[in-house]
Amino acid sequence: MKINITKDLKLSRIIHGHWRLADWDLSAQELLKLTEQLIELGITTFDHADIYGNHTCESLFGEALKLKKGLREKIQIITKCGIKLNTDKFPNRDIKYYDYSYDHIINSVNTSLQNLNTDYIDILLLHRPAPFFNPEEVALVFSHLELSGKVLYCGVSNFTPSQYEMLNAYTDERLVTNQVEISPLCLENFENGNIDFFLKEKIKPMAWSPMAGGKLFNPTNEHEINVFEILSEIAQEHNTESIAKIAYAWLLNHPVGILPIVGSQKLNRIKEAVEALEIKLTTEQWYKIYSSAIGSEVP
Ligand SMILES: NC(=O)c1ccc[n+]([C@@H]2O[C@H](COP(=O)([O-])OP(=O)(O)OC[C@H]3O[C@@H](n4cnc5c(N)ncnc54)[C@H](OP(=O)(O)O)[C@@H]3O)[C@@H](O)[C@H]2O)c1
Repeated sequence: MKINITKDLKLSRIIHGHWRLADWDLSAQELLKLTEQLIELGITTFDHADIYGNHTCESLFGEALKLKKGLREKIQIITKCGIKLNTDKFPNRDIKYYDYSYDHIINSVNTSLQNLNTDYIDILLLHRPAPFFNPEEVALVFSHLELSGKVLYCGVSNFTPSQYEMLNAYTDERLVTNQVEISPLCLENFENGNIDFFLKEKIKPMAWSPMAGGKLFNPTNEHEINVFEILSEIAQEHNTESIAKIAYAWLLNHPVGILPIVGSQKLNRIKEAVEALEIKLTTEQWYKIYSSAIGSEVP
């Protein structure tokens, strides 16, 4: 259930994502209970971003962490920076944009630390690649953050192989992961070279929206219905009614070593991701899902 992302840092193979946390309407006590239940299941890694819930999710989790001494040491926290939202919280901003300046990254990390009630972040990710980007400045801030102990490791999200290589060259190869969208309804990273690149570089990617944000369960067009039907057929072959388990297994069985980020708040649904670790798909079953996802037989 644990996976080494670097020599020193182990993450849980299944990560819990907190993007939707503000919608869950949990008290700090309830969130603490959920977190402890997840730790029992072996899920110890939690994914955040400064902007989640219009900058509220990190604080909600921080309030829960504050309730239990020693909890922080049992978990790993990922958070992200770089997107500047144009929301009511920032009335002086005219537009949404990306900011990877030294000052913004430092300020963002300091705010995340305060919100999360912690003095270190396990992995800091740059949330999205940016057309206006100075890798020398980012390299400088990464080494300062790591030297200060505020951030243990740095990585990126939604980068292409060339964007990853470019930043890695400036940062003395210190990037540890790339968090990208992968699901049977999102094959972009099979097509843009990322999966091959991860295999070549032995990078363990994290998969966001592994259930396509819930769309897998509520298909609305012919393509989505086909994917749903194939997942259901394979679920039956594995004596389960859970197509979620099969969709998680499709990610987990891939040799690249994907870490799915589960976005559900429901314990029984989160458990399905853990149970999927036991499911071994045949290569034919894997391709049945892939073929339904691309909408045709492979060439
Ligand atoms: N790096 C990035 O750019 C980026 C972008 C987006 C997300 N993320 C990360 O990835 C995490 C996961 O993304 P996500 O929330 O979109 O993940 P997801 O697991 O694909 O989608 C979660 C949604 O699907 C529903 N769902 C899950 N299992 C279900 C089931 N068995 N039956 C019916 N509905 C089900 C959930 O509802 P219930 O809660 O009611 O179960 C929830 O609304 C986020 O929390 C965030 O940490 C990163």
